[in-house]
Amino acid sequence: MSLLIKGGTIVTASDLYRGDVLVEGETVSTIGTALTMQADRVIDATGKYLLPGGIDVHTHLDMPFGGSTSADDFESGTIAAAHGGTTTVVDFAIQYKGQTLHHAWEAWMKKAEGKAAIDYGFHMIITDLSDQVELEMDALVRQGVTSFKLFMAYPGVFMLDDASIFRALLRTGKNGGTICMHAENGGVIDVLVQRALAEGKTAPKYHALTRPARAEAEATHRAIALAEMADVPIYVVHLSAAEALDMVTEARDRGLPAHAETCPQYLFLSYDNYEEPGFDGAKYVMSPPLRARETQDKLWRGLAFNDLQVISTDHCPFCMKEQKEIGKDDFSKIPNGAPGIETRMSLVYDGGVRAGRISLNRFVELTSTSPAKIFGLFPKKGTIAPGSDADIVVFDPEKKLRLSARTLHMKVDYNPYEGREVTGATETVISRGSVVIDGGKFTGRAGGGSFLKRSSR
Ligand code: URP
Ligand code: ZN
Ligand code: ZN
Repeated sequence: MSLLIKGGTIVTASDLYRGDVLVEGETVSTIGTALTMQADRVIDATGKYLLPGGIDVHTHLDMPFGGSTSADDFESGTIAAAHGGTTTVVDFAIQYKGQTLHHAWEAWMKKAEGKAAIDYGFHMIITDLSDQVELEMDALVRQGVTSFKLFMAYPGVFMLDDASIFRALLRTGKNGGTICMHAENGGVIDVLVQRALAEGKTAPKYHALTRPARAEAEATHRAIALAEMADVPIYVVHLSAAEALDMVTEARDRGLPAHAETCPQYLFLSYDNYEEPGFDGAKYVMSPPLRARETQDKLWRGLAFNDLQVISTDHCPFCMKEQKEIGKDDFSKIPNGAPGIETRMSLVYDGGVRAGRISLNRFVELTSTSPAKIFGLFPKKGTIAPGSDADIVVFDPEKKLRLSARTLHMKVDYNPYEGREVTGATETVISRGSVVIDGGKFTGRAGGGSFLKRSSR
């Protein structure tokens, strides 16, 4: 199968030019200004951008959490991702206490196989570190699972102590893996949560009020300090607070390889959402929580000046009905997480590029190239170049989209951006040479995605 995409404007992290792209099989074979080759299909991209497929390195599909399971599985979640212009996800497999990493990896491979419509990789969440698990970390890196998420929050469930975190960091120094850190001080938060509940403060907003920005900043500082002592890079996930960003900026200014991502919810939503009437604040219960509105400008600055390198989604959807409502009388029981896998590219294009906060090249870098480089996928993914996978989004910069749970494809009964209009949306999406979204319709297949064996550092 060959495709000739004609007349579009090719955008990479560094370039912007009019060009035709010939796709043969699964990869880009030729780029030129006026290609005349025959192809099985010609796509007219006049007036459109050709973007490298979005890479979302933070998703939770089919994930058991807080007494529930995230509402999108690998089929619905990856189809929604494709609609939104994302052609690769890196999801989190979970090692539960007492389990081997291998068991966790196999369990998550089973969840994805035959279901994922786009390519996927895994990070491994480690909750129980032993000598044996350290050896397994090495084996996983060799098998292409080259990053590990550790938690400084959720005591008794996911949280690791500093000694275990330090050991895991040291191990990545030897095996070339990368530690991804959930940086919030779980002990402090637990005390604040218990105090709030004892005072009868049960509404969703207390989720945010018991997770202060300083608890995120302290953990971010500690995580970076531990990585500095271990002499390894670190990647802080879902950074939300300006105080935490200051810690990353300070470390980077000292030349340390500290990396961090933020997510659209922290750029477009704020603490005010928790004050919505009734139980609606539960829609935004996620960790870390939404912050004061003024934080948004600081995060955008961090993105523009490369103190933040990635925008991922932390897509972890739970329906209001039967899932979020578990915590109707106790905010600490509300499953943590929100949907976002489908809306990332349009939101960031609209609120970032169109609003003049980041350039078009930086948009591509933050949503595709930089995650590909940090997580061992570049140059197979993350760019449009001869030899790279043909993961290409034909993006219409003028197409208007009204975001709504009714029309989006994520399997969740609300949308955090309900009613918001964005300008800039996908038209056609190509995943490893196959058209998976054609004029807004899904034309791929469940199981069309492949496991990505990622490189180590
Ligand atoms: O609230 C969140 N972020 N849910 C997903 C789990 C995590 O910590 O990333
Ligand atoms: Zn997390
Ligand atoms: Zn997450």
